[in-house]
Order: sequence, then structure tokens, then C-alpha cells
Amino acid sequence: MNPTCKKRLGAIRLETMKVVAQEEIAPKIFELVLEGEMVEAMRAGQFLHLRVPDDAHLLRRPISISSIDKVKKQCHLIYRIEGAGTAIFSTLSQGDILDVMGPQGNGFDLSDLDEQSQVLLVGGGIGVPPLLEVAKELHARGVKVVIVLGFANKDAVILEMELAQYGQVFVTTDDGSYGIKGNVSVVIKDLDNQFDAVYSCGAPGMMKYINQTFYDHPRAYLSLESRMACGMGACYACVLKVPESETVSQRVCEDGPVFRTGTVVL
Ligand SMILES: Cc1cc2nc3c(=O)[nH]c(=O)nc-3n(C[C@H](O)[C@H](O)[C@H](O)COP(=O)(O)OP(=O)(O)OC[C@H]3O[C@@H](n4cnc5c(N)ncnc54)[C@H](O)[C@@H]3O)c2cc1C
Ligand code: FES
Repeated sequence: MNPTCKKRLGAIRLETMKVVAQEEIAPKIFELVLEGEMVEAMRAGQFLHLRVPDDAHLLRRPISISSIDKVKKQCHLIYRIEGAGTAIFSTLSQGDILDVMGPQGNGFDLSDLDEQSQVLLVGGGIGVPPLLEVAKELHARGVKVVIVLGFANKDAVILEMELAQYGQVFVTTDDGSYGIKGNVSVVIKDLDNQFDAVYSCGAPGMMKYINQTFYDHPRAYLSLESRMACGMGACYACVLKVPESETVSQRVCEDGPVFRTGTVVL
């Protein structure tokens, strides 16, 4: 099959992207570089729905876009091996092709921020990667970026040096084996809370904390995960409830994965 073959099914874009490189950057955590025309359309905070290159696994796996290079038409994904699908992704190497649907989801709203603005980025574990593109783009506009990262332990720390190019980085670990002992709240509670925007992605406990802490903030965003099937808004496998409504729901794949704090039930 032509490796750049792509087709549109309604608004859905499918493309076979080429694997440019793959590297294990921490135990069981891989950075995959893909190349293809789809990169043109990618925005920070969106995800790719990847077909597992194995006929036994019918459902695609959603992985966030970590960084985007539109000149090279390349994007980076960072994922952790959780089960069979991600284990198969980890065997891919340069020159392989991957069947990709995307870019999916709404992405982060980075509008109206400039050199007068100060933003807070909060990432936890394998939720850190989508914040890299956010930091890169905002730093390029002169925005002051403060980044608080939380990990289980020293071995799990990723992207600290990459993010340090774009802002002031604080690292916490649950066991104190690296950086500040504790979770991200230990740092955030002592920060000046005058941020123009807050962008976050991490485990459910961290997302609940950010949702509560910045509940009424007009521009605080959560990038959320949910088990997905279709990944394109059709099956309603990924819905979240909306506060004070029994009937309205939000699909993580189509209405998210980025939501404003206070707009979904966590
Ligand atoms: C919008 C979105 C963006 C994501 N971005 C990333 C990313 O950038 N990097 C990354 O490493 N992972 C990311 N994930 C999670 C990733 O999709 C799952 O880890 C992956 O699908 C697991 O597939 P598998 O076949 O390896 O494991 P499976 O065999 O399918 O599952 C293994 C274990 O992981 C759990 N699991 C699977 N999918 C999810 C999920 N979506 N949420 C919570 N638990 C899950 C299962 O319950 C099971 O316990 C994202 C998920 C979503 C919804
Ligand atoms: S996964 Fe089907 S609607 Fe979201």
C-alpha cells in the first residue's frame, strides 16, 4: 500500500504514517516519531487513534500528540506499555508504517496569550507528554510558563529537560526519590495563583485536585482519559456526566479530551 495513502470518511482522516524512530526513554516508556501529511492538521492536546498492527486487536488505541514539527511533517508520541496493544507498538522500528486516525479531539485552547501572560502547566506521569507542545508554543510567544510535574519515583521522570527549555520546572515524586517529595499540590499551594490559564493532564486523582482547585477559573483545562472504542464520537463508550444534569453527557473523544474545569463530573 502507498505509505502516504489517506482517505477521508466524512470528517475522519485516516492515514498510513511512517515510523521515523522509536526509543525507550524510561522503563516501559517509549517515544515514537511518526511522519505524514496528517501532521499539518495537528494541534496541541489532540490525540491519534492508532490501529494495532495485529489482526487480533480490533480496537484502536488513543495516544496523545506530544510534539509537532510541521516543517518536517513529524510528530512525537510518548506512551507507556500497559497491555498487548502498546506492547506491539513498542516493537515498531524505523520504516514501519502505522494506520492512524486523527488528529482527534479538540486540543488545548492556546488563544489570546502573549508576553504579558503567565500560565501554569501541571502534568502527572504519562500525562506529561501532551504538555510539551503547549509549553513550546506558548514559550515561542513570550508567555511566562511555570510547569509542575508529578511522578511516582525517579525512574518514571520524563521530559524534565525538554520542558525546562520553555519554563520554570518543579518536579515532585511520591516517594521523594527525585525532586520534591509529595504530589504536585505540595508545589501548587505555594505558587502565586494569578495564572491567566492552567493546562493539565494526569491521573484521575490529579485531575480531581486540579478541577477542585481551579473550579471557577475561566481558563483552567483538564485533558482527560477514558476507555475508548470508536474514538470518533459515534459509540458513546467514553462519556462523562455534566454537573447537575442527568441527561447531558460529554464524549471524551469528540467533545474532549480537553475540558474546562467545572464542566464535567470527575
Ligand atoms: C485521549 C487519550 C489519550 C491518551 N494518551 C496517552 C499517551 O499519550 N500515552 C500513553 O501511554 N497512554 C495514553 N492513553 C492511554 C492509552 O490509550 C492506553 O494505555 C492504551 O490504549 C492501552 O492499550 P493496551 O492494548 O496496551 O492495553 P489494554 O490491554 O487495552 O489495557 C491494559 C490496561 O490498561 C487499562 N487501560 C486501557 N486503556 C485505558 C485508558 N484509556 N484509560 C485508563 N486505563 C486504560 C486497561 O483497563 C487495562 O487495565 C491515552 C488515552 C486516551 C483516552
Ligand atoms: S469512543 Fe466512541 S464516542 Fe467516544
